[in-house]
Amino acid sequence: MEERNKQKVFIETYGCQMNFSDSEIVGSILSNDEYNLTTDINEADYILINTCAIRDNAEQRIRKRLKELKALQRKRSWLKIGVLGCMAERLKDQLMEEEDNVNLVVGPDAYRSLPAMLKEVESGVKAANVILSEEETYAEIDPVRLGSNGISAFISIMRGCENFCAYCVVPYTRGRERSRDPKTIVAEAKRLFENGYKEVTLLGQNVNSYKWTDDGDNVDFPELMKRVAEISPMLRVRYSTSHPKDLSDKLLEVMAAYDNICKCIHLPVQSGSSRMLKLMNRKYTVEWYMDRINAIRSYMPDCAITTDVIAGFCGETEEDHKQTLDLFGKVGYDYAFMFKYSMRPNTYAHKYLKDDVSEEEKTRRLEEIIALQGQLSLASYQKDVGKTFEVLIEGVSKRNKEQLFGRNSQNKVIVFDRGNHQPGEYVKVKVLKCTSATLIGELAE
Ligand code: 5AD
Ligand code: SF4
Repeated sequence: MEERNKQKVFIETYGCQMNFSDSEIVGSILSNDEYNLTTDINEADYILINTCAIRDNAEQRIRKRLKELKALQRKRSWLKIGVLGCMAERLKDQLMEEEDNVNLVVGPDAYRSLPAMLKEVESGVKAANVILSEEETYAEIDPVRLGSNGISAFISIMRGCENFCAYCVVPYTRGRERSRDPKTIVAEAKRLFENGYKEVTLLGQNVNSYKWTDDGDNVDFPELMKRVAEISPMLRVRYSTSHPKDLSDKLLEVMAAYDNICKCIHLPVQSGSSRMLKLMNRKYTVEWYMDRINAIRSYMPDCAITTDVIAGFCGETEEDHKQTLDLFGKVGYDYAFMFKYSMRPNTYAHKYLKDDVSEEEKTRRLEEIIALQGQLSLASYQKDVGKTFEVLIEGVSKRNKEQLFGRNSQNKVIVFDRGNHQPGEYVKVKVLKCTSATLIGELAE
């Protein structure tokens, strides 16, 4: 079919990095003889929304967006709307009943069926596929890099989650945990490097459970990291996310041994109270968590540590909350993602626990954590003033065209006068001052 006759697909993504990575897989599946991707929503024949279900407000935002899209559909009667991802998986057909302008519902393991499903929708019927798979990893699909800066890319290394934290919808929306063939992961990273990329982030819900066995080749996560890091010292490697219960010394050893493995660990704590952690089914105590923090610090004193935390989970008392603040103070996180507990239908907490902390109380506790983290972030950034870092330049600063921005190994953003440097280069930058979210420096060479 000629280019101009191809139908145009616009993809909009919400939620976590995994979802952004999935959209790149969807983009690849739909870049073929019959479909073209477009970045202009006004010329789209199909709008696909890749959704998140982690908290109620994520879903509300998507509902609102679907209502807005009705206006576009009124102007262009042929326009079809598809819902992909976690909200599609959670609500299934119900979504098409509740949102009358949705033509297509596709869960995270069913993206290969998209071309056939678009055909069905084209012929005027509604279509849904939310079958979860125990094997699908989209291993050999080469993702199109959507909205990429050409420098940094995500690589999905595993799918699903079997931890069943009491509050979390992910095991239900993304299904069984499965790892992707390491050969395809290393090949994808190599391809990216050969195409000028300088940084890859290996993604999985719990990367430490990565495991592959093939003809006597046993590959665990530290081994996979090693293989990716050895592609080139000029390729930075990051990963997300690891569960504290299985953050191993072996992984820390590998991280410490390679300069190009970035010194930043995202280690979601969720609560600073062992009693809450037990209710959450996190499978570790505060003592265990602190032991892991100490291990990180002893292998890599310069490693940044970031976290996720939930305020106001079922049964959380003022004392539990104080313990969370306490733990934040002790760890001194460089950055944190902080949330109010949001009850998710069908999770363990929904079935067996009571969402009994009032909305006002959740808000107050969250605000206290945010205020404390603000001070901790500022302290962490202030400690960097006077230090010199290697920075991978990512782009031109939005505020000032004469300045560039990039990140150091610890994932902190640094802004500096550009000299004659370009995005994609590594430079040494000395930090002169900071805010609680940005370092400001000057070229050190
Ligand atoms: N309510 C609030 N926050 C949640 N998270 C996961 N489920 C919920 C929920 N029901 C948070 C956790 C997790 C992050 C991705 O989202 O902190 O680490
Ligand atoms: Fe949710 Fe726990 Fe899985 Fe993370 S590891 S997605 S918090 S169940």
